[in-house]
Amino acid sequence: MAGDWIRTVTAQTPTNIAVIKYWGKRDENLILPVNDSISVTLDPAHLCTTTTVAVSPGFDQDRMWLNGKEISLSGGRYQNCLREIRARAAEVEDKERGIKIAKDDWQKLHVHIASYNNFPTAAGLASSAAGFACLVFALAKLMNAKEDHSQLSAIARQGSGSACRSLYGGFVKWIMGKEENGSDSLAVQLVDEKHWDDLVIIIAVVSSRQKETSSTTGMRDTVETSLLLQHRAKEVVPKRVVKMEDAIQKHDFASFAQLTCADSNQFHAVCLDTCPPIFYMNDTSHRIISCVEKWNRSEETPQVAYTFDAGPNAVLIARNRKTAALLLQRLLYFFPPSSDTDMSSYVLGDKSILKDAGIQGINDVEALPPPPEIKDNVPPPRNRGEVSYFICTRPGRGPVLLSDESLALLDPSTGLPK
Ligand code: ADE
Repeated sequence: MAGDWIRTVTAQTPTNIAVIKYWGKRDENLILPVNDSISVTLDPAHLCTTTTVAVSPGFDQDRMWLNGKEISLSGGRYQNCLREIRARAAEVEDKERGIKIAKDDWQKLHVHIASYNNFPTAAGLASSAAGFACLVFALAKLMNAKEDHSQLSAIARQGSGSACRSLYGGFVKWIMGKEENGSDSLAVQLVDEKHWDDLVIIIAVVSSRQKETSSTTGMRDTVETSLLLQHRAKEVVPKRVVKMEDAIQKHDFASFAQLTCADSNQFHAVCLDTCPPIFYMNDTSHRIISCVEKWNRSEETPQVAYTFDAGPNAVLIARNRKTAALLLQRLLYFFPPSSDTDMSSYVLGDKSILKDAGIQGINDVEALPPPPEIKDNVPPPRNRGEVSYFICTRPGRGPVLLSDESLALLDPSTGLPK
């Protein structure tokens, strides 16, 4: 192990959004859920975490930088992930560079970690899911741990529950498991990202002044006080999971949309059933639901599904690109940008949907007619400034290693952030 070398690994991992929700733990330390959940992985081109991990005999402590700022690794969730990966570390040999790390050396060696989210960390977009999945995936590669993605998912789960679902692309199921030690609580891939590639996902990042109840606190209060959660976990979700898997396999968008919306609404009902009640959606979230519900009911079959996590942001899943363009027209009619915002910073991600919608600039937004399903004599109000921005994306792939040195976040000669 002698010498003054630094070995680095860089990985990129997507975030995910649950269509059958995870809410409530049966073990807080191991992060074991009270029900299975299902998610769709989002295209890392638009929402992902990049993490570089480095090891060197010259490092004297484990250190981490998140979005360029040093953070403490002393929290239990980071410590759980580091301990579990170290326990599975194997020998590493790089003959070219004269590096040899024996299995036992990993217990003494320290790591540096730098992580960057390509989307706002505090915007309620599940950054910890992508973050912990990326941390575990990158450390496993660095330490030559031989576990498969499902086994790694059980480790990422101990950092952040939803992180286990970010170890795969496409549609993913987190199986709650039965074991007390959590060994069978892990993620499996249902289908990869190519299986249902018509789907288009539009996220509305809703302006919010309010500090939300953290998921950890909210879940604990719900488990302690909500009878509706017991009913949901035992009676509702098991049946919904079977139906959702079937809808995904068959590309049955009508069932998929019905199940996704119903499950989001039940999750928020469970939050209201909590003592004290938890409010994650706001008036803007409710207006987005009304817009989608009215449109879906005016069509023969649902065009769009909505789902909301522990915050006011809407995740809208359109059946195809054509529907996504029609959805974007409706969203921009009801939620135009405030006067000082330009379109290029208002619609992010896959901007080609904006072109499909026939919108080039702010003047096209101002000229949009009310959607035809609104039959009022007076045009409905336009809620300017209620949405901070939209992100257009699609189902995406799972974690990858980045071999291009220029994408690493740590300097290979110092082990410090570039
Ligand atoms: N929490 C939010 N973003 C994160 C990241 N990239 N890594 C670890 N934890 C995070």
